[in-house]
Amino acid sequence: MSNSAHERIIILDFGGQYAHLIASRIRREKVLAEIHNPDEVSVELLDKPEIKGIILSGGPQSVYADDSPNCDPAIFSLGKPVLGICYGHQFLSDRLGGTVSPGKHGKEYGRSEITHCQQCPLFNDIPRTSVFWMSHGDSVTKLAEGFETCASTPNCQQAAVWHPEKKLFGIQFHPEVTHSEFGIQLLKNFLDICDVSGDWTIEQYLEEQSAALKQQIGDRNVILFVSGGVDSTVCFTFLSQVLGPNRVKGLFVDTGLLRQGEVEYVEQSIRSIGADLTVLREAKTFIGNLREKTDPEEKRSIIGNTFLQVQRDYFKSHEINEDTILAQGTIYPDTIESGGSKNADKIKTHHNRVPEIQKLIDEGKVIEPVADLYKDEVRALGESLGLPHELVWRHPFPGPGLGVRILCSEGHSDTPLLQEIFEKRVYFPLPIKSVGVQGDFRTYRHPALLDTEGLSFDLEALEKYATELINKSDTINRVLYPLGFQSASPQSVQMKEATLTNDRITRLQVADHIVTSTLLEMDLYSDVWQFPTVLVPVTFDALGEDSIILRPVDSIDAMSATVGKLPQTFFSKVANKILQETDISAVFLDVTSKPPGTIEWE
Ligand code: XMP
Repeated sequence: MSNSAHERIIILDFGGQYAHLIASRIRREKVLAEIHNPDEVSVELLDKPEIKGIILSGGPQSVYADDSPNCDPAIFSLGKPVLGICYGHQFLSDRLGGTVSPGKHGKEYGRSEITHCQQCPLFNDIPRTSVFWMSHGDSVTKLAEGFETCASTPNCQQAAVWHPEKKLFGIQFHPEVTHSEFGIQLLKNFLDICDVSGDWTIEQYLEEQSAALKQQIGDRNVILFVSGGVDSTVCFTFLSQVLGPNRVKGLFVDTGLLRQGEVEYVEQSIRSIGADLTVLREAKTFIGNLREKTDPEEKRSIIGNTFLQVQRDYFKSHEINEDTILAQGTIYPDTIESGGSKNADKIKTHHNRVPEIQKLIDEGKVIEPVADLYKDEVRALGESLGLPHELVWRHPFPGPGLGVRILCSEGHSDTPLLQEIFEKRVYFPLPIKSVGVQGDFRTYRHPALLDTEGLSFDLEALEKYATELINKSDTINRVLYPLGFQSASPQSVQMKEATLTNDRITRLQVADHIVTSTLLEMDLYSDVWQFPTVLVPVTFDALGEDSIILRPVDSIDAMSATVGKLPQTFFSKVANKILQETDISAVFLDVTSKPPGTIEWE
């Protein structure tokens, strides 16, 4: 737990991915929110006066299961307001003597109309009936003593309950997701009940974190491996300002997995802020180590380990001693999605969290100055440090670079395009597989390629269709809209044996450059949050090499994302250019939200 004396809301994470949205929503109300493992946080710590309220998050388990996440029920007697959400709501009722049962009408996911009793302050300024998002199988069926029902839906009698004297609240729905119309208002109401003053801002964070970093680093110098992305650049600038540029050395590793022209751009922009940067040209080492590898997790792990190897070699040849500490630009979701949060299923391994780095972290040899922040907060920090707007608002680029955007394959196949039908629409399952996230679990499934016959380019509708198809299917986790083929009328699909070769990297760099330059030309760059261009080892009618997937997304914090709704003219222009100027077989648009897809394809 942080030592700061800020008023805080503690979120006990029972394992839902959305727990982290709750924290970011609360921080936006200028209240510091911290996430903790419920079985590791003691009642004594929660009893501190600066802890103004406790939120129990959702989670995938049933409260009555033997191994379900738990916390000391004494937290309900601290006299602090508690808000249980979904699993947290059921946990609260169950532990205080109520009953939780499997849902009578089966599981309830999505939109639900909630009607409240107009007495509970949690619903202040919320219309009597409004839409909230539900995602549950179990329900509270008998209230605990002293509790009253304060909202219901047609399917769920105890949609919200409260204990008026003890300020304990339980809600079955999710106020943290943007689809809940008055979700933010409900969270604000809870903060009012907690009597917080709203004393947390990024400027304050900067001030406090500067002091904490100075103390943590002492007289040591800092070395930071800069990727050129927003996170490591902000982290580097932050440290340079706190310690002075002479004590912070930036090392930029050219992995060979960067965008076209990236090395020069990063070199120039970092030097222009007066910081010390050395470029280590290591493309051969990275590509050499990745040779023959196809498994996404193995690729990630090799990239992470090669970083470590490069780091170690650098330390050896530069006699770095005990007076040096390593810094990383890790941000909050990076630690969470690696299963950094105990009850969350591991979604993927982040290279800042591979075992060797984890060991250094445990030994106190690594600092991560922005690890508490979400992406939007890192950007706000960057601007308050004086970094140029254009640099701070660059699209995020993942540490493993194009390595997670080039799909590889061990097997090969050549088959006719076989059609399947869902909701009267024809689609073709493609032979490749990519990573997705469904519920709190990682999936590895096929994309479905839509038939354009009678299909209009309505991205909202396509995205909705994609969600429905994926929810019903056990084999599909993405949906693709075709933007163009080399073949006039594709009949067959080939999956090719493919690894990470220089040719494929260059092929992707060229296509990716077409995407970025067209975004800038058409003044659309800031209309999307991130825009991966992905290379997949698939061709149609054996024409061309590989295919390209365009993956524009809108997001706030990368935890969830929707399809970037750019105009059709943009996509046509990009697809035509790629097909004309490269040997790509086909270009597709990914119309899948996150979840069920992830942003990267891996
Ligand atoms: P996914 O694919 O999980 O990505 O939806 C969420 C966000 O994280 C970025 N990403 C990474 N960033 N190192 C990074 O620095 C990584 O290993 C990594 N993997 C994914 C991704 O680009 C997106 O913004």
